[in-house]
Amino acid sequence: MLIFGIETSCDETAVAVLEVKKRSFNLRSNVVSSQIDIHKKYGGIVPEVAAREHIKNILPVINESLIKAKTNLDKIDLIAITTKPGLITSLIVGVETAKTLACVLNKKIIAVDHLDAHLYANFLENKNIKFPAIGLIVSGGHTELILIKNEFSFRKIGQTVDDASGEAFDKVAKILKLGYPGGPIISKYAEKGDAEKFDLPRPMIYDKTFNFSFSGLKTAVLYLDHDQKKKTKRYKQNMTASFQQAVIDVLIYKTLKATKKFKVKTIMLAGGVAANKELRKQMAEKIKIDFPKTDFLIPDFKFCTDNAAMIAIAGYFYAKKNKFTDWKKLKAETD
Ligand code: KG4
Ligand code: ZN
Repeated sequence: MLIFGIETSCDETAVAVLEVKKRSFNLRSNVVSSQIDIHKKYGGIVPEVAAREHIKNILPVINESLIKAKTNLDKIDLIAITTKPGLITSLIVGVETAKTLACVLNKKIIAVDHLDAHLYANFLENKNIKFPAIGLIVSGGHTELILIKNEFSFRKIGQTVDDASGEAFDKVAKILKLGYPGGPIISKYAEKGDAEKFDLPRPMIYDKTFNFSFSGLKTAVLYLDHDQKKKTKRYKQNMTASFQQAVIDVLIYKTLKATKKFKVKTIMLAGGVAANKELRKQMAEKIKIDFPKTDFLIPDFKFCTDNAAMIAIAGYFYAKKNKFTDWKKLKAETD
């Protein structure tokens, strides 16, 4: 079976071809066209600009993905398309393109939730995942803890009450005038910084729920930055390291609390912030000590940030549950 995944929920136009043979996954192509260089100028994503770029890119990216996969649209069995959540102007471009293909070529189509897909990225390279599992989704728009009973059953047990973790990285980078997106540049600066230099809060770390909050942490950085006279490189290295450590501490603490409560056999990370090397390293170390029998999965870097391979594999699991959509009813949704 050949699955055609399409993703345009934010600022990446992505198309992938995934071949599935008896539950073995062969990623034939995975093309991502990023708009980062364009949005950098504005210090964040401008929805209308993003939509225009998607319109410009979608057909060339589809074409490139088919060429790389050495196939053509006739041979595709199923189209998997992100319909939510995301920027509506961006989502519409992918959804209308997928609809057109499904209508003209008479293909089956599946509406994929982008957050489910982030978690399914872990299934691309891991065959025998043990359940129950806990999934931590950390992206630009979301921070959620998901209890995964089996490969089809995801239940949200916690989420951010204000900013998402990726959003906090982006906003702190803006405060420190480091550019956009914040995650990669903050982690680079933090490599040489002292994480204990600034005493930053760990919001909601010990509260009873599995919820998160990152807005107060960002504000704490803002106030300290306001009082800082010389914004030297050294200062920025120390501040980014201190900020990054505060985020990591909260994410690890809450995830391991859920691990204990639900007696999970696997912990998996997902989303753009899961590309953070320090988070990956510290989480692996802590799990090894506190839960040595628990498996720890993290997608390859290229499957953490937005891509269409994860949409295609999500489409496979949705198809197994017969979650097909009539293209006439398909629509983009923000939430
Ligand atoms: O999952 P993603 O590509 O898009 C959304 O679904 O939102 O996540 C993007 C987010 C951005 O906020 C970006 O700053 C963050 O992921 N990010 C990182 C790193 N790479 C990307 N955050 C921390 N460390 C990184 N290395
Ligand atoms: Zn995403």
